[in-house]
Amino acid sequence: MKILIWYTSWTKHTEIYAEWLGKELKRTPVKAKEIQLSDLSNYDLIIYGGPIHSEEIVGFKRMRKIIPYLDDQRFIVFGVGGVAESDHYNEQIISKNFTDEERERVNFFYLRGGFDPERLEGIHKLQVRYFKFRLNRKKRESLTEAEKNLLHAFEHPDNYVEKENLETLVNYVTALKNQ
Ligand SMILES: Cc1cc2nc3c(=O)[nH]c(=O)nc-3n(C[C@H](O)[C@H](O)[C@H](O)COP(=O)(O)O)c2cc1C
Repeated sequence: MKILIWYTSWTKHTEIYAEWLGKELKRTPVKAKEIQLSDLSNYDLIIYGGPIHSEEIVGFKRMRKIIPYLDDQRFIVFGVGGVAESDHYNEQIISKNFTDEERERVNFFYLRGGFDPERLEGIHKLQVRYFKFRLNRKKRESLTEAEKNLLHAFEHPDNYVEKENLETLVNYVTALKNQ
């Protein structure tokens, strides 16, 4: 099975997951900008990983363009966010990022990353500052669980990247390969 692992990562959490996944599946992950969309038709399984910013999977918009033109390929997307994993948040990210048709074709996995202010670029630093300002102005009881969680992540930077978080995704791909 020809498998492509490609990813976007600003502060390395997604990159680490992509590298671990690459080791498990014996494939070398490729940065998103190094891939031409036209290359995707050469693969049977396309796995894309991107950070979640403002509930959007960074880079997925680019991949979306090609999905309708590919017939036999399978797609997996893993989104890496600072919020603790839960079925509710998983569903929130799916409904925000995928149309009904895409939901039929794309399998999504949420992986918890972390927050590393030291690695943030200028524009993202500003976005985080604005995010904190906006959330801190709201009444605590009006914040959603995800907003509380994200605010906590921004105020208490930490790294939750764990190899075990990849287990379900790796098992899913292994089952596909054995079909
Ligand atoms: C501007 C900004 C917005 C973010 N928004 C979200 C969000 O909506 N949900 C979430 O779970 N994490 C959010 N995060 C946290 C990142 O998804 C998290 O830090 C992730 O590990 C980054 O992946 P990377 O290190 O591969 O770039 C945000 C981070 C930044 C900098």
